[in-house]
Amino acid sequence: MKDKEIQNLIAKEEKRQREMIRLIASENYASRDVQNALATVLGNKYSEGYPGKRYYPGNEFIDEIELLAQKRAKKLFRLGKDWEVNVIPYSGTPANLAIYLALAGPHGKIVGMSLDSGGHLSHGHPVTTSGKFFNFLNYGVDERGFLDYDELEEIARSFRPKLIVSGASAYPRKIDYKRIKQIANSVGALHMTDIAHIAGLIAGGALPTPFPYCDVVMTTTHKSLRGPRGAMIFARREHMPAINKAVFPGLQGGPHDNQTAAIAVALEEALSANFKAYAQQIIINASVLARELSARAFNLSSGGTDNHLMLIDLREKNISGKDAEELLYAAGIVVNRNAIPHDPTKPMNPSGIRLGTPAVTTRGMKEKEMRQIAKWISEVLHKERTPEEVKKETLGLTKTFPVP
Ligand SMILES: Cc1ncc(COP(=O)(O)O)c(C=O)c1O
Repeated sequence: MKDKEIQNLIAKEEKRQREMIRLIASENYASRDVQNALATVLGNKYSEGYPGKRYYPGNEFIDEIELLAQKRAKKLFRLGKDWEVNVIPYSGTPANLAIYLALAGPHGKIVGMSLDSGGHLSHGHPVTTSGKFFNFLNYGVDERGFLDYDELEEIARSFRPKLIVSGASAYPRKIDYKRIKQIANSVGALHMTDIAHIAGLIAGGALPTPFPYCDVVMTTTHKSLRGPRGAMIFARREHMPAINKAVFPGLQGGPHDNQTAAIAVALEEALSANFKAYAQQIIINASVLARELSARAFNLSSGGTDNHLMLIDLREKNISGKDAEELLYAAGIVVNRNAIPHDPTKPMNPSGIRLGTPAVTTRGMKEKEMRQIAKWISEVLHKERTPEEVKKETLGLTKTFPVP
């Protein structure tokens, strides 16, 4: 690269990613093939529209790429003729907006999980476009940290939304999609689920599929699915025309064709037997990490995890989420501060931290390493050892687990 300034910064970031134990639940390491597909001439093309219906000439190969991505996406989630998929949303947030626009319309009524219960900002938080341009009410979790289906039902009955959104960014338990679909049906609403975090686990058969109980399913492609940044919207056939229109021309201009190709590459990787084993190992790793942390007197929201992530409630430890995040970072372990359900403090300095296992599992770490990581976390947060001391050991571990 001629631009040494940028090259140098990229190299530093690469080293940082290699030398840290990454427990950010939404992050992962995409393969070199995925990265290579992103860095191609496909980024030079304009192809507004959809395969066979473009506003520019010269899209014969782009059409093939997009159709291939669609085919692989449907195969990966074992979908038949009644489902279609849009693979060009720029990312998860615009994909969610497109769904709201298509199914609820401007200022339409929607119900989603609140941010402080684990939902995502784009599920109606007032600071976001979703909260400002749509009429959202939020449901949450109960005192133990489990989704409160009764509250959701009550809100749905009195509010009569057009759409119920399930799915979350910081919810460690399985979601009862069947129950939510029943609630949606009882009030004449549609059910959309956002599987951004757990798509890889569902694809790999490590978590149950929500598709039979949904009208629409949205996922990002860069988390447990291990692709490039991006998103896909799956919809039952009758909803797809409205969703396609909402994505383009409703919200987006030209699709990022290099991103579409990289998604296709990631989908093919996810169709392999290796990926099934990967998805299972993510869950095994998370359950071992959760068990070890509980055994070391950490309080986990809902008492544990069914998926790839867990939330540690730090209130009894007299340490804030921000301080815990910083101490662990200094020790070479990256987690993010996170609200815990019914958090009494502000989002910039909440009472918990969130930990997830997709990235460390990509590097090949297993149960033994999870036990070691739990020990380091405990030593640092219980102030038994300094982060600097622990950092020497975490560096040793990362050296033996290469990044893709
Ligand atoms: C559940 C969920 N939905 C949507 C998004 C938004 O995705 P993006 O950051 O690609 O806009 C996220 C991101 O963390 C998420 O966790």
